[in-house]
Amino acid sequence: MSLVVVAPARILYSAYSTITSTLTDLLVVVWDSGLFVCNLVAFNRPANAVIPNGCPGARGVWPTYVPPGEGDSRCSCPALNAMANHGILPHSGRGISFRELNTKVRETYNFAPSFCFFVPNFAANMLCRNYWKDTFDLSDLDVHNCIEHDGSLTREDSIFERDQGKPSKRLVEELLACGTGPGGDLTAADLSRISGKRRAESKAANGQFSLTTFQRFFGSSNSSTLLKIMGGKIKDLRVFLLEERIPDGWQPSVRHPMGLTMAEFNQTAMRVEFGITEELPASFGFSQQKKKD
Ligand code: HEM
Repeated sequence: MSLVVVAPARILYSAYSTITSTLTDLLVVVWDSGLFVCNLVAFNRPANAVIPNGCPGARGVWPTYVPPGEGDSRCSCPALNAMANHGILPHSGRGISFRELNTKVRETYNFAPSFCFFVPNFAANMLCRNYWKDTFDLSDLDVHNCIEHDGSLTREDSIFERDQGKPSKRLVEELLACGTGPGGDLTAADLSRISGKRRAESKAANGQFSLTTFQRFFGSSNSSTLLKIMGGKIKDLRVFLLEERIPDGWQPSVRHPMGLTMAEFNQTAMRVEFGITEELPASFGFSQQKKKD
């Protein structure tokens, strides 16, 4: 077919795609804001009954944990791996539909439905797949420099460790030891400090280090789940991050009936991200933060 026909069709299709995806994102923001307001006026669920009855984990009874075996697919996200290890997502980590990811994440971690659509939809677009029809394997999420990035808190950079499905014991132990809250639990300031240190060390050691502004915020959002969903509790995080297992009796810390909205979650993520001093030029006079004993 002639270029005179194909070129305008390509331009029109690209404009259509940009407009529909921008509109979708805008609708999600409006939806999320509505859920945020509902949460302000609604009663929280009881702490021991956040997971709805009939769903895995209701009343803290989680399906049996089976570590991944040969051929199982795992990824750089401890939360998704834990779901597969408990059989909430297929244990093989393969052939998961984006729609299934949405509902299962919602039920398991009490994230708001807006978030549970937004992130899997983002992942589907990132993988050039259709959110409504297609499936993925967990390891597909590890495309470097999309969501998976350098300087993570629980994974060595992909240049050093190709298999991003494996937690780094060294990094996780360092994270678990950095808490300054009651009983050594994690606070937002702890996450800023450890993220800054980790990014600086990664930049020094990794000749191919890269981290966009988007990835910085995504990284801080990921680490903020350790506070908002896991409550920063070191006892639970040890099991969750090292074994990628959901502790017996565990329920999400966020108890809102509409779940954790992006509007609420982003406040913590921004607190963590904007609290990182290591990424300012030395001339600004902020020295590297140290853990207070
Ligand atoms: C909804 C679908 C989700 C997708 C597609 C997803 C994807 C990812 C990916 C690709 C990473 C690696 C980022 C990096 O390189 O550091 C990651 C990390 C992480 N995610 Fe998820 N995730 C999802 C849901 C969740 C949920 C619900 C939680 C918490 C309950 C969570 C907690 C984390 C944590 C703690 C990290 C590790 C951050 C680090 O090592 O610095 N994620 N996620």
